[in-house]
Amino acid sequence: MLERMDDFFAARLDGYDEHMKQNIQGASAFYAYTAALLPREDGAEVLDLGCGTGLELEELFALNPGAQVTGIDLSPDMLNALRAKFPDKAITLINASYFDVPFGESIYDGAVSVESLHHFPREMKLSLYQKLHKALKPKAPFVLTDYFAESEELEVEYFRNLAQLREEQGIQDGVVVHYDTPLTVEHEAEVLREAGFTDVRILQCWGTSYTVLAEA
Ligand SMILES: C[S@@+](CC[C@H](N)C(=O)[O-])C[C@H]1O[C@@H](n2cnc3c(N)ncnc32)[C@H](O)[C@@H]1O
Repeated sequence: MLERMDDFFAARLDGYDEHMKQNIQGASAFYAYTAALLPREDGAEVLDLGCGTGLELEELFALNPGAQVTGIDLSPDMLNALRAKFPDKAITLINASYFDVPFGESIYDGAVSVESLHHFPREMKLSLYQKLHKALKPKAPFVLTDYFAESEELEVEYFRNLAQLREEQGIQDGVVVHYDTPLTVEHEAEVLREAGFTDVRILQCWGTSYTVLAEA
């Protein structure tokens, strides 16, 4: 059965950090690698899309204790866990969908998203990335570490399966459910370029996850 996104993560909060670090291929290295691509200036403004319990932020704060982070996440439980981890950090948390929140213009020195965006289709990503591109200062990095489809055939199949499950289970449009529908990493890079990111590079492969660096 499909679960609502926030319910899915609330039900798995216990042991979430250990599960990610131990069971997701590459995770023992990719959080640190991802954070190392973010700005190091004291007070740098960083936006995190789908911050969860803040695994990537642990690594960011280790490198840049003075970073000022805005984290957006659908799950209030994940955000509460994050808040408890970093009581003395400059963090603004927004409990909402990153598709719905206005990001502002030319505000952020960098942005990051880890293992969150593989649940959404190309059209939704295009408008999100256009909004993100506007919110970043010129040349600011967006670091995306995520799970990607291994082939175009699989990409199509994931979306077909999700549509069928939504229909079978009578899930209304607009309800965000947890189901993996990754694009291929090449398609993701295309969407980033279409949204206005100039320099888009696939930097590292971690099995089925990749790190993509896009410059605003
Ligand atoms: C697998 S967790 C990753 C969390 C964290 N980035 C990490 O790597 O540990 C995915 C997170 O994305 C959040 N998420 C999924 N869709 C979202 C959306 N549309 N807006 C905001 N957060 C979302 C979920 O609530 C969840 O906390």
